[in-house]
Amino acid sequence: MLMRAKPSAPARPATRTARRAAKPTPADDKRVDRFLAAAAQRLRKPGDSQGTLRFGVDLGTATIVLCAIDPMGQPVWWDFVRAQVVRDGVVVDFQGAVDAVRGLKQRAEAALGVAVEEAATAHPPAVPLSDCRACGYVLQQAGIDCRSLVDEVSAANAVLQVRDGAVVDVGGGSTGVGVFREGALVSLTDRAGGGHQLDLILAGALRIPIEDAERRKRERGAEVMQMLRPGVERVASSIALQCGGESPGVVHLAGGALQLPGAAEVIASYLGWPVRAYAHAELITPFGIAIS
Ligand SMILES: Nc1ncnc2c1ncn2[C@@H]1O[C@H](COP(=O)(O)OP(=O)(O)OP(=O)(O)O)[C@@H](O)[C@H]1O
Ligand SMILES: [Mg+2]
Repeated sequence: MLMRAKPSAPARPATRTARRAAKPTPADDKRVDRFLAAAAQRLRKPGDSQGTLRFGVDLGTATIVLCAIDPMGQPVWWDFVRAQVVRDGVVVDFQGAVDAVRGLKQRAEAALGVAVEEAATAHPPAVPLSDCRACGYVLQQAGIDCRSLVDEVSAANAVLQVRDGAVVDVGGGSTGVGVFREGALVSLTDRAGGGHQLDLILAGALRIPIEDAERRKRERGAEVMQMLRPGVERVASSIALQCGGESPGVVHLAGGALQLPGAAEVIASYLGWPVRAYAHAELITPFGIAIS
């Protein structure tokens, strides 16, 4: 779904470059949508597969995901736990993270009938190397060799394959932005702000605990979207800043936080740039990690 800003009151004017931004070819559009639709079907339900599987572990701020792809790059399995063991890319609860990954490994092995011996994992852009290494140690302690450690935005682009445009990953804690030109990553940044900030806004507005706000946002998003609009616009302003204030071409939205109904339209309207949203966008980075 490619969105363009409505002419009414964009907070920032659309530039000529923005209006001329390349539209992804329909073939590309369908490839990613098909991949994500197939991936979504594989939640705790293994697909048919032959050959060695490749695994990925996404140690997110809100969600820890283990997923698998087959040698053809097709999604075979995914599973997740919600756990607050990572904050700002830093593992703050090492044992909690190990336990979560170990549980995911055991469930995958039981369902798939193969050992999860090695996996790739990822870190948010702009996290110091010492903190990135901790992600590898979590896997090791859970009995998985870390075969590769990539940044989340490059991982997301392993699925999206954007050559010109921006890849934006809005997760629980932060917004990562990578700008690609002719297939090369020309800038990579990360700023605090994501789904957790929306939870804080909602919890404050409704005077309810944060956990309840998070659930209400996910389950009854359309009802609370108006309250969250300023928070979503803050994410948009962070994206604009990380793109240097200039349209990078199409802005592709990955991550769970903008799954909120209407959020992608708010982002497009605020930026005045073409924006591409995806159903099951929360699966883009985890599966990209498995591919990496
Ligand atoms: N349907 C939904 N509607 C609204 N928000 C959602 C929905 N699904 C997930 N989220 C939100 O998305 C966030 C989690 O997204 P994601 O799994 O991409 O984050 P993460 O990878 O754990 O975090 P990060 O990448 O920042 O470390 C949470 O804030 C969650 O509330
Ligand atoms: Mg993430």
